[in-house]
Amino acid sequence: MSKRTFYLTTPIYYVNDVPHIGHSYTTIAADVLARYKRAKHFDVFFLTGTDEHGQKIQKAAQSCNKTPIEFVNTVVEKFKTLWNRLDISNDDFIRTTDERHCRRVQKIFQQIYESGDIYLGEYEGWYCIPCESFWIESQLKEGKCPECNRGVEKVREKNYFFRLSKYRNRLLEYYEKHTHFIQPESRRNELLQRIKSPVEDISISRSAVEWGIQVPADQTHTIYVWIDALLNYITALGYDDDLQKFQKYWPASVHIIGKEILWFHGVIWPAILMSLKIDLPYKIFAHGWWTIEGQKISKSLGNAIDPLSIIQSYGTDAYRYFLLREVPFGSDGNFSYSALIHRINSDLGNDLGNLLQRTLTMIEKYFNGTIPEVTITDDELRSASQDTHEKMGHAMDELQFSRALEIIWEFIGRVNKFIEDKKPWSLAKTSATRPQLAAIIGTLARAIKDISIFIYPFMPNTTAEIQRQLGILENNSPPCLELQQRFKEGFITQKVKPLFPRIETT
Ligand code: ME8
Repeated sequence: MSKRTFYLTTPIYYVNDVPHIGHSYTTIAADVLARYKRAKHFDVFFLTGTDEHGQKIQKAAQSCNKTPIEFVNTVVEKFKTLWNRLDISNDDFIRTTDERHCRRVQKIFQQIYESGDIYLGEYEGWYCIPCESFWIESQLKEGKCPECNRGVEKVREKNYFFRLSKYRNRLLEYYEKHTHFIQPESRRNELLQRIKSPVEDISISRSAVEWGIQVPADQTHTIYVWIDALLNYITALGYDDDLQKFQKYWPASVHIIGKEILWFHGVIWPAILMSLKIDLPYKIFAHGWWTIEGQKISKSLGNAIDPLSIIQSYGTDAYRYFLLREVPFGSDGNFSYSALIHRINSDLGNDLGNLLQRTLTMIEKYFNGTIPEVTITDDELRSASQDTHEKMGHAMDELQFSRALEIIWEFIGRVNKFIEDKKPWSLAKTSATRPQLAAIIGTLARAIKDISIFIYPFMPNTTAEIQRQLGILENNSPPCLELQQRFKEGFITQKVKPLFPRIETT
């Protein structure tokens, strides 16, 4: 039987500047989901990439005295390096300057044009370069971009338009029928509210912007950067000249995005797909925004901390854990070093790290480092583990990452309490209670192996390290991810090494 497929994507990021916490958040979340689905035996295709055309990037290149292509080539490397350091397991990386993408975008544009959904018209309005967005006068807020509150420029051009208005009613029907299409619920409601007002056709080309994909058969226009970018989700799968992969993975299981680009993904993108007569993705999940120490992340405020510097000091797994644990996926969050250090010391060091350390120390002390054979096991802890597995699975399917971690940490708390309740050290005093002692220690080792599996999507290195210390994992072998695969006793554990050494703050 062929495996079920799961196709998930991140936004493709603008390369006008280096990546920051916000970009890493979306990509880590997608990676966690991809790892989880792979562990559940799905055939996963995980796509990320970069959005490299448009006025914003053209300007950024000019200000560095570089040609656009020279400029984007250097910034793309920064994204790739970061994803590598964050253990992002993407299956492909699409750049909108890739020949495969440009060729397919032109073909799709032509197809929509021939279907009658693109026409030439006159655009008069405003344009926000940082958001690469068109706005009409009534949408501006005190003359500024309603999205980012920055200045806009007046644009009057002959442009190609897409008949978005034609799709408004079909979109409304679709949202009504597919209540889980846009998540979370609060964002779905906002979108529904906005689309209830009249929807205008949208301009989808620029005559003043050179750095872009040329409109087929019209050298005077480039394709609007947002149309170019959205199409990446299908061009990366080979649409429309290498249909094997496309047919295998499309429709996408989920597009994970930030809340500020929901209009493009929840309205424009589905309308384009409807025009192309392609099925819509199953889900679009718009997560919240991070601030840093209470402030918006911005180049001008100079507060865009480089994620590389955080992981250099605190480690990749701790950073991945913190971002997904700190706020419910969908809500806004605030990054602060004190909150990060608190999570490392408390959740990772005290709760998880100490549990492993205490258990290994007892295995060393009472059983010479060999995990004891057990005949009696603790049913309660075993069923709690099964329960955790199920509950965590439900949370993961709903993209409730912080809830999944909470559920895992409830189990960790329970295992710590098991040690306190059973007091193995008092059983070690006499050989008469040795079978009970063996049962407790064996049960504990099993529970920790289960924990190492639960945390895998979030902290793959920690999984490997726990399994190595427990003696289950040979160096460099892939971690064991099967809860059902019973843990064999008799493993020789490795030297105890703290997983998350305490970070002292002054
Ligand atoms: O919008 N908090 O690219 P972009 C959380 N190229 N997430 C954040 C964030 C923050 N403060 N800042 C950025 C674009 N993000 C387009 C997308 S897709 C077809 C084209 C994340 O470089 C979040 O995922 O501005 C957001 O949607 C994305 O980065 C925007 O990245």
